[in-house]
Amino acid sequence: MRIDIVSLFPEFVAQVAGHGVVGRAQERGLLSLHGWNPRDHAEGNYRRVDDRPFGGGPGMVMLIDPLRACLAAARAADPAPGRVVYLSPQGRPLTQTKVRELAAEPRVILLCGRYEGVDERLLAAEVDEEISIGDYVLSGGELAAAVVVDAVARLQEGALNDAESAVQDSFEGDGLLDCPHYTRPVEHALGRVPEVLLSGNHAEIARWRRQQALGRTWLRRPDLVDREALSAADRRLLEDFLGAAGDGPGTPT
Ligand code: ADE
Repeated sequence: MRIDIVSLFPEFVAQVAGHGVVGRAQERGLLSLHGWNPRDHAEGNYRRVDDRPFGGGPGMVMLIDPLRACLAAARAADPAPGRVVYLSPQGRPLTQTKVRELAAEPRVILLCGRYEGVDERLLAAEVDEEISIGDYVLSGGELAAAVVVDAVARLQEGALNDAESAVQDSFEGDGLLDCPHYTRPVEHALGRVPEVLLSGNHAEIARWRRQQALGRTWLRRPDLVDREALSAADRRLLEDFLGAAGDGPGTPT
């Protein structure tokens, strides 16, 4: 997969994404990142990329032409048509479903805004989709782009060493949060590993993990649990969990 990053700080995104799984995905040839700077496509001695907003108000707005020329240069660098994604707090929330969708594209072009925003006409003409990484405001789209790059890179086939681990992640498959994990030592001043995980009984372990995932999701993110869709077995697991855990948002009805 190819990802192009259009940003005033393209090297920033590449640097953030240069380590761990994303770095490995690049080394393995599963992902290529390419930075494009609108300033390189700006006119005049000052290579201006922004100007004051019409109607007044604080801040600056990114100009159409440097961005447009920059996007055109990025597009021309590869015949694969790229889906253009603009990162902004006004976008649709990024979810694992959206990440999977982007990860299946041959090419994505991430457009990062700075300052107060980008001239709306450029967005209307050039952007396929606007994505937000959460209900808070960053000073630019670069960190959000790095988040997208990371989430998408680890889903490239062969990027993770253990092919199973992406399937077991929170939000994958059943849309539940992940269960708790433990490693050595069994006994520690901070507590003992739950007995079931030491039992060697794989059916019991799977049941316990499912129950923990259900219970955790119910307590922490009840919005992710579709009560109607729970099987009778899951409902029982959850009821037992809540009975043992005490207070929560209430037993599902
Ligand atoms: N740019 C600034 N804030 C953002 C956010 N929350 N998500 C995506 N891009 C942004």
